[in-house]
Amino acid sequence: MTNTRSYFPNLLHGADYNPEQWLHRPDILEEDVRLMKLAKCNVMSVGIFSWVSLEPEENHYTFEWMQNVLDRLYENDISVFLATPSGSRPAWMSEKYPEVLRTNADRTKNLHGLRHNHCLTSPVYRKKVRQMAEQLAAGFGDHPAVIGWHISNEYGGDCHCSTCQASFRHWLKEKYETLDALNSAWWTTFWSHTYTSWNQIESPSPLGESLVHGLTLDWKRYTTDQTVDFYQWEAAPLKEKRPDLPATTNFMEEYEGLDYWKFKDVVDIVSWDAYPTWHDNEEEAVQAARTAFLHDIKRSIKGGQPFLLMESTPSNTNWQPLSTLKKPGMHHLSSLQAVAHGSDSVQYFQWRKSQGSSEKFHGAVVDHVGHENTRVFKEVAQVGKSLERLKEITGAESHPKTALVYDWENRWAINEAQGPRNIGPGYEDTVQKFYRPLWDMGIAVDVIDSEQSLEQYDLIVMPMLYMIKPGTAERIEAFVKRGGTLVTTYWSGIVDENDLVWLGGLPGPLRNVLGIWSEEIDSLHDGQTNQLTFTSGNLSSQSYQLKELCDLIHLESARSLASYDEDFYQGRPAVTVNAFGEGKAYYIAARTEEAFYTDFLKQVVEEAGIEKNIQTELPRGVTVQRRVKGERSYLFLLNFTKEEKTFSLHDKKGWDLIHQESVQGDCSLEPYGVRVVREE
Ligand code: GLA
Ligand code: ZN
Repeated sequence: MTNTRSYFPNLLHGADYNPEQWLHRPDILEEDVRLMKLAKCNVMSVGIFSWVSLEPEENHYTFEWMQNVLDRLYENDISVFLATPSGSRPAWMSEKYPEVLRTNADRTKNLHGLRHNHCLTSPVYRKKVRQMAEQLAAGFGDHPAVIGWHISNEYGGDCHCSTCQASFRHWLKEKYETLDALNSAWWTTFWSHTYTSWNQIESPSPLGESLVHGLTLDWKRYTTDQTVDFYQWEAAPLKEKRPDLPATTNFMEEYEGLDYWKFKDVVDIVSWDAYPTWHDNEEEAVQAARTAFLHDIKRSIKGGQPFLLMESTPSNTNWQPLSTLKKPGMHHLSSLQAVAHGSDSVQYFQWRKSQGSSEKFHGAVVDHVGHENTRVFKEVAQVGKSLERLKEITGAESHPKTALVYDWENRWAINEAQGPRNIGPGYEDTVQKFYRPLWDMGIAVDVIDSEQSLEQYDLIVMPMLYMIKPGTAERIEAFVKRGGTLVTTYWSGIVDENDLVWLGGLPGPLRNVLGIWSEEIDSLHDGQTNQLTFTSGNLSSQSYQLKELCDLIHLESARSLASYDEDFYQGRPAVTVNAFGEGKAYYIAARTEEAFYTDFLKQVVEEAGIEKNIQTELPRGVTVQRRVKGERSYLFLLNFTKEEKTFSLHDKKGWDLIHQESVQGDCSLEPYGVRVVREE
């Protein structure tokens, strides 16, 4: 049924392990292994920030401690993701080679300090990183504990030094070939910004150019490409030594600075670090749905292949404005939520709390008290036990029929564009608003960018796709023509990949499939509202409040389902549908109140015949996710409320792997409870 590719024999459970902080305490290192076994941990990520402990002086390597750690772990059946330490570099390097330090957009140069603050172009830094990777490959590539490579740590940021400027210009030359092509793509005749020599081009800066949107977009694209290239550069010696071991780099939540999709062909496994702010809302489901959405992005990047939850906290963080403890049960639930969405691991930052420095109060498996008799340790051990029970799920995939389009380049462009709503265009939030009802209904969703194939889907929800890149409109038309259902909104089909507005009528290349012409868009002040009322279909005569953005459209081949109730555009279409080939394309012209998303998507899902994971009405705060392995199907029932919830499993029944009991008919979930059911 599916092409399952699993690198691991079981689900992984573990943490970032930083024994170099404790080399002066052999008793603690000894104790760590005992505690790891108690917590049912089977993997540790080692070496992430260990550069100075591995190379205290230039070209002088001290690997003995690492050898000991790997040996000890291996003897105790604990595997290792061996990391390259490039996330932060030793002071001796910055002192001797100041060019490795990063230059900011305002052209100030950093001093040594913090982490993630190096120049990714610097030949010296690249040489040093490469040497380290070669040494690690030679020293530990054949170590039986090592099951994968953890490349660097949370790549991010950009560097504006002169070496990077030269590299950016080189990248631009490759892309555009001629200055004429670049000038026309960036529309530089505006304000007389035409470049007459490549050397005049500088990266965006608050002191210089920041409003040539083509330049800003290309700089962000360049930064992603440069980071992908750096990743490959760093990983090469390790992959060469052990092509059979997977390599990954840990992504951050929704980090805007890197288009993670561009890593899809270079990482073997996607991994990421999840730090939701649990308990920040009366309704836990808000945070749960957002986290689910982030998991779905990560799973979708490699087409449904399992990903890894590389970091999470077993209790609190210490860098968010407020560090709430995970309430009893939440750790287990949120860990299994990751597995429900396709993770083959639950890993933490970090194994043992540091005694000093900036993360000494960050949650960890082992507290400063040093023993296992803590609430947090027990909950971690409980997760370990559940993961053992879920072993057979390792490698299971997900192949939803619904996709939500969330495109990073589109996001960059919308946020830079200077348009109708500069106080927050609201792209990120709007995408999540569309995700939530699908999560509530227990519908599996891929979250993809606009460059992916649409062939496997029946429903595409694509809010605010402002930028239409080459090929996207054609794929969308083909999708609807063969019977697919498309839902899109205002502020779609506005510009091409260079942020140049489509001439001849909006929504540009989507006009045909949507059957409308958008003439102008109104922006409402905060507190101002309009309203739409449905005039036909199942929602007929229902009204919904509108805010922020109202698009004034004309029908071409589409038909109106709802119209505006107020202002000078009263009576004009506010929701439309266009029959196109075998399918349908919906257009929502205005930003709506939340109830609309729920009611509207419910209708659409029914009409499009999209299957829910269980054909039942789920209680609010409960969702169902699904993973598939060969002929086997696993349902994850997750209760993100403080109350026990009971609902009908409809025609589903099977074996609950967590509680080791069979379930059918009415099923109840404890507060923050979870069941994983192998379907019969
Ligand atoms: C990130 C980093 C870790 C640690 C955690 C703390 O994810 O990768 O090194 O700083 O945050 O939450
Ligand atoms: Zn640089």
